[in-house]
Amino acid sequence: MKTILSLSALVAVALLTGVARPASAQTQVVNVYSARHYGALEKVFAEFTRETGIQVRLSSGSSQALLERLRADGKQTPADVFLVIDAGTLQLAAEEGLLQPVRSPVLEAAIPAELRDPQGRWFALTQRMRTIAYNPKRVKPDEVQDYADLANPKWRGRLCLRPATHIYTIALTSYLIANRGERETERIVRGWVANRPQYIDSDSRILETIAAGKCDVAIVNHYYLGNALKRDPNFPVALAWANQRGSGVHVNITGAGVTAGAANRDNAIKLLEWLATRGQDAGDAGMPGGNSEYPANLTQKPPAILERFGTFKADYAAIARYGALQAQSIKLLERARYR
Ligand SMILES: [Fe+2]
Repeated sequence: MKTILSLSALVAVALLTGVARPASAQTQVVNVYSARHYGALEKVFAEFTRETGIQVRLSSGSSQALLERLRADGKQTPADVFLVIDAGTLQLAAEEGLLQPVRSPVLEAAIPAELRDPQGRWFALTQRMRTIAYNPKRVKPDEVQDYADLANPKWRGRLCLRPATHIYTIALTSYLIANRGERETERIVRGWVANRPQYIDSDSRILETIAAGKCDVAIVNHYYLGNALKRDPNFPVALAWANQRGSGVHVNITGAGVTAGAANRDNAIKLLEWLATRGQDAGDAGMPGGNSEYPANLTQKPPAILERFGTFKADYAAIARYGALQAQSIKLLERARYR
């Protein structure tokens, strides 16, 4: 009886004072705010735990909602890693002091300079291209060579778009402003709106709508079509790489940084290093492979399904401006009555 009492007293003291248990008995963890929304496709975190013994605790939300949470948390954040699907959101978090600089020879060797923050506050883990999808029975490839082509009145009632509130639409608008200015971007966006688009808040559903013959052209992230083609090689939607005569297609990233208040800083860096190297696999267990994305680590091969999409030019220079242009893009979309 006496032993039991003193044992529970000890536990109580440990809980109250935060006294650490011996390292061998302690579970290693890394807490992640994650905007990845690919559910069962995401085997990569389980694979990391299997190899390192470090538990990954994911807390999910949209990129914007997670940034709001990180702002509210400040240095007291329970998150060690901030992992979102937009370069602009990472830049804003970094500039607001919510992410800490990381010097890692592993990360610097794995990720090319244009896909990471010069101060090491965030690193890209995958690349995703937002481009044009179309019904090949009703549309010729030369009709859809650029985002501006979708402003042509011939697409009235035939265009599907993601709503203005989604970060994919906001980042696309920032890319357009970065490479052709605000006036021209507004002209393009007003042209889309004049075509009375169907607004659908899911790229997968947009592709299904094209396949069902209920819309002919759309703008989507390439991997949704890659995943659809993995399930059905005859899925009746085609992809056009936009802006190949200009600066290249709009590229965004999945990327991550270590939070300023990270309690498990070493594990956070281990996770980032692992995701940028072992986790880059083109197979189902990799972050790019599991979701048909392009690896951020250019020594890795893209998933086989993407061979169908051929080679293309992407606008890497614009990425650095998404954060600074985010607020301007939201205003432009509102002004143009993009819903
Ligand atoms: Fe997505």
